[in-house]
Amino acid sequence: MTRTHRIALLPGDGIGADVVAASWSVLQAAAGRFGFALEGTEFPWSCDWYLAHGAMMPADGIATLAAFDAIYLGAVGWPARVPDSVSLHGLLLPIRKAFDLYVNARPHRLLAGVKGPLGDKAFDILCIRENTEGEYSGAGGRVHQGTPDEVAVETSIFTRRGVERILRYGFEAARRRRGRLASVTKSNAQKYSMVFWDEVTEALAAEYPDVAVTRFHVDAMAARFVTHPETLDVVVASNLFGDILTDLGAALQGGLGFAASANVNPAGGVPSMFEPVHGSAPDIAGRGIANPLATIWAGALMLEHLGEAEAAAAVIAAMEQVTAAAAVLTPDMGGNATTAAVAGAVIAALGR
Ligand code: NAI
Ligand code: MG
Repeated sequence: MTRTHRIALLPGDGIGADVVAASWSVLQAAAGRFGFALEGTEFPWSCDWYLAHGAMMPADGIATLAAFDAIYLGAVGWPARVPDSVSLHGLLLPIRKAFDLYVNARPHRLLAGVKGPLGDKAFDILCIRENTEGEYSGAGGRVHQGTPDEVAVETSIFTRRGVERILRYGFEAARRRRGRLASVTKSNAQKYSMVFWDEVTEALAAEYPDVAVTRFHVDAMAARFVTHPETLDVVVASNLFGDILTDLGAALQGGLGFAASANVNPAGGVPSMFEPVHGSAPDIAGRGIANPLATIWAGALMLEHLGEAEAAAAVIAAMEQVTAAAAVLTPDMGGNATTAAVAGAVIAALGR
C-alpha cells in the first residue's frame, strides 16, 4: 500500500495563495516520483475569513488541524484590512502554541547560481531558534500609563525544560551535519538567564563529545554571520536572538524569496508546521510574480520531517538546477518569470 501523508494546507493571505499552490504542485510531483501520496485538505482561514466570520479560524480549528500529519502555510496578514496583532494572534501563534512547536529551524545557504550581498561566498548555516519562551514569553505589565512615572516591565522566561530541549535538538542536528554547534547568548551582560543557558549548554556538551561547541555573544555572532559565515554549522539561539539572526541569514542567502522555516515539535504526535519566512507581500499580491522557492524549500523540510528524505533532497536539487540555469526566475531574482513558471521549471528538473 502507498504511504500517504495528510497535509493541512493554509494558503492564508496575499501571495500565500500563489506560493502554496505552486509549491504544492512541486511536492505532488516529488510524491509521484518517489512513490508516496500527499493528501491535501485546504482551509481558507485568512484575513478574508476573519472579515466574514469575526475570527481567523473556527473555534475548533486547532482540533481540526490536530488530525493532520503536517501543516503547510503560506502567509498570514493583510494590514490594510485587519490589524497584524489580530491576524498573527488569531492563527499562527495559536498553532505554534497549541502544538508546542518549540523548534524554529531555518536553513541559510546560497542556492547554486544565486548571489547574495556577500557575492558567491559559500556558507551553510542551520539556525535553530527557540520558539515558545524566552524574551517573547509575554510576561510583563505597565503601570502609571501615560504619565511621566510610567513603568513598563517585560520579563524573559527561560525554563530548564525549554532551554535543554532546544539545545538538545541543536546537538542532534549538529551530529547529523558537520558536527559543530554555536550557542548564542549575551552572558556577559545578562547574568541570570544567559549564564543559565551557558550552563545547560555545557552540561549537554558532555553528552555529545563528538560535537564541537563554541559560545558566542549575539553581537559578535551578528558580525560573524557577515565576516565568516563559512565557519558556522548549527547555530542555536533564544527566541529574540534567533529572530534577529535569521533575518540576517535570509538577507545573506539572497532575500525573503529564499528563506524557509520549519516549526517543529520533535516529539511528534502533533502536526509540525512548514512555511516561508516571508509574509503576504501586499505590494506584489495578485500579480503572480512571487518567488515560490522559499515555500518549495519549506515543503522539502516538510518531506524530510515526514520521513521522505530522498524526495526532500531531490526537490532541493531540482530548485538548484533552476537557479543555476538562471533561465526561469521571478523578478526578485532578476528574471521576469511567473510563480507558476518557476514551479513548472522545478517540476521539469525533478523529472530529469
Ligand atoms: P513581506 O515579507 O510580506 O514583504 C516584504 C518585502 O519582500 C515586500 O517588498 C515583498 O514584495 C517582498 N517579498 C516577500 N516575499 C516575497 C516573495 N516570495 N517573492 C518576491 N518578493 C517577496 O513583509 P511585510 O510587507 O512586512 O508584511 C506583509 C504582511 O505579512 C503583514 O501583514 C505581516 O504581518 C505579514 N507577515 C506574515 C508572516 C507569516 O505569515 N509568517 C511573516 C511576515 C510578515
Ligand atoms: Mg523575524
